[in-house]
Amino acid sequence: MNKRLLSVLLVMVAVVTVLCRCNGSSEGKDLRGEGFVGSATCATCHKAIYDSYLSTAHNNTSRAASDSSVLGRFSSPGNNFGFLNGVNVVMEKRDSGLFQVAYLNGQFQEAHRFEIAIGSGRKAQTHVYFKGDQYYQLPVSYLVSAHDWANSPGFPASHPRFDRIVNTACFGCHTSKTVVRNIQEKGTGFTEHFEKGQVIYGIDCERCHGPAADHVSFHKENPGQKQGRFITRIDTLKNQQKLDMCAVCHSGLKPAIQSIFNFKPGSLLKDYYYPDFNRPKVSELDIHGTQYQLFSASQCFVQSKDMNCSSCHNPHATERTDLKVFSQRCMNCHKEADHTFCTNSTVPAATLKQNCIDCHMPSLPSRSITLLTNGQTKPTPDSIRTHLIGIYKPDVKGVVELVTGRTNGK
Ligand code: HEC
Ligand code: HEC
Ligand code: HEC
Ligand code: HEC
Ligand code: HEC
Ligand code: HEC
Ligand code: HEC
Repeated sequence: MNKRLLSVLLVMVAVVTVLCRCNGSSEGKDLRGEGFVGSATCATCHKAIYDSYLSTAHNNTSRAASDSSVLGRFSSPGNNFGFLNGVNVVMEKRDSGLFQVAYLNGQFQEAHRFEIAIGSGRKAQTHVYFKGDQYYQLPVSYLVSAHDWANSPGFPASHPRFDRIVNTACFGCHTSKTVVRNIQEKGTGFTEHFEKGQVIYGIDCERCHGPAADHVSFHKENPGQKQGRFITRIDTLKNQQKLDMCAVCHSGLKPAIQSIFNFKPGSLLKDYYYPDFNRPKVSELDIHGTQYQLFSASQCFVQSKDMNCSSCHNPHATERTDLKVFSQRCMNCHKEADHTFCTNSTVPAATLKQNCIDCHMPSLPSRSITLLTNGQTKPTPDSIRTHLIGIYKPDVKGVVELVTGRTNGK
């Protein structure tokens, strides 16, 4: 009897233990597989970094569409965009979510539900809906500078298009994982089929740092260990590897060799994209998304050793618009005390020091990202900070123009 009770108890203990394990592991379940744990887990030991990271554009670059993530008005006036063919697309909030609804002369045409918001809302935000097993871009986007809805970049102004498929490339740069199957169709090669809701939003810690499950379990079991283990130490990487960690998303859209979701710190760009044989000249590159090419063509980079994106950017913090902080980083190398400082003699040094950026890295209009707001006939270009650091002069139209690359080989 006692023996029996004991064995029953033992079985119960075993069952409870197994259940606990299950809960434990299902808590940490990550779409990317066993090796990954998700950003929230990092917060327990890296709280300051995690808290600061939450507000970054990387974290917020994609989100499930909701009242709080989708920018722009959903009540009249200002909740519509009129196309030239008379179709009016109205942003409507319904019980089942947020919708873009097309009307012609007041007659309902079609309605599609906002599924994902892409863009943290620095400049613009665009949205996708889900149908069948595909994502489609909605025809109306939000333009922050105009505080208004606009036609999505690259979409016609004549009529709303609801049939533009969004492929994995888009999610490769704007999410941390989106589950897709490639299915071979008769005659047409492979097409992508998505699983609804199977998305890890934002660019998370492990998107940049790689899978961290072993790191986490080691440090949980060894709380006294002060050296990070089972995680790539960024400071041991070669400079090109450090640059490639950012360039994988910041060098524009090119034909991919393999999914960039596989990229880990230490991976090389050349293993992910085919070489660009008709590489455009730097002066012909659009500034959208090409920070890597522009920066690496700059004399600051060419003539220094080991300069990379972290020379100016803290990957865990939002520092934009703080041009004084960025100018301080310029002055880590361009010091007033030696001959490396600004040679512009028309402006006092004290003023120069406030803002190196607007003169040497001006915001320029993008050619590829332009949006048309209500009633406009000429689209508004998105303006983006150029990373071709150089000497620019304002021309008559108030548009800045690159004057020199480095002049005659000093
Ligand atoms: C149980 C505690 C713990 C958790 C959870 C944890 N870490 Fe760490 N991590 C540490 C310790 C301790 C160090 C070494 C001290 C330091 O650099 O802060 C470290 C260091 C690091 C380093 C720096 C390595 C180096 O030496 O350059 C990175 C990167 C890192 N962790 C990333 C992560 C990420 C990403 C997550 C979440 C997926 C995470 N950590 C979760 C404890 C933890
Ligand atoms: C997985 C793709 C991806 C990787 C890797 C990546 N970025 Fe980004 N980055 C983006 C996207 C997308 C945005 C635009 C976010 C938005 O506003 O929606 C962005 C925005 C930024 C911004 C603008 C932030 C702001 O607040 O204005 C900076 C700066 C930046 N990235 C630097 C870096 C650096 C430095 C690295 C490497 C350490 C890096 N990124 C790696 C995709 C990536
Ligand atoms: C090769 C990587 C890459 C791909 C592919 C890509 N983007 Fe981006 N996107 C970026 C980066 C980097 C930025 C921010 C820097 C910039 O604009 O120069 C950005 C900026 C944006 C912004 C502005 C965000 C803001 O807060 O201002 C939107 C909206 C956007 N992308 C939507 C899309 C959509 C929709 C797709 C797919 C149809 C797409 N992107 C494909 C890398 C990419
Ligand atoms: C956009 C890419 C990117 C993202 C996202 C990112 N990191 Fe980092 N992280 C870096 C880079 C690059 C470094 C190297 C230090 C540097 O260049 O400033 C670094 C350094 C670190 C370090 C060691 C140095 C230090 O600052 O203590 C830790 C720890 C760390 N990251 C944890 C995290 C955690 C936790 C998250 C998510 C909350 C995260 N990182 C998100 C790119 C990223
Ligand atoms: C890691 C050191 C370093 C940092 C940081 C740095 N530079 Fe440079 N920069 C250099 C070097 C080296 C050169 C080439 C020698 C020279 O012209 O002084 C250079 C050249 C320049 C030039 C001349 C460009 C040309 O084409 O003739 C300008 C302008 C400039 N830097 C501005 C800046 C600004 C603005 C920043 C901050 C946003 C900055 N630099 C940050 C190292 C740096
Ligand atoms: C010499 C300093 C410096 C270096 C190096 C640098 N950046 Fe920047 N970056 C800046 C400054 C300054 C801004 C403008 C911040 C603002 O406008 O508030 C900026 C802005 C950005 C933006 C937002 C641009 C926009 O207008 O939307 C992105 C994205 C970005 N950087 C990515 C990168 C990447 C990726 C690298 C490495 C390939 C890099 N940066 C290297 C100084 C630098
Ligand atoms: C009002 C615009 C303006 C501001 C602000 C400014 N610069 Fe300049 N900078 C110029 C111009 C114009 C030149 C070319 C001057 C000449 O040679 O006649 C120049 C020249 C330079 C050069 C020398 C390039 C060479 O020929 O080697 C460097 C380096 C530089 N600036 C860095 C900086 C840094 C760092 C800051 C911030 C501390 C800064 N500048 C602030 C306009 C500016």
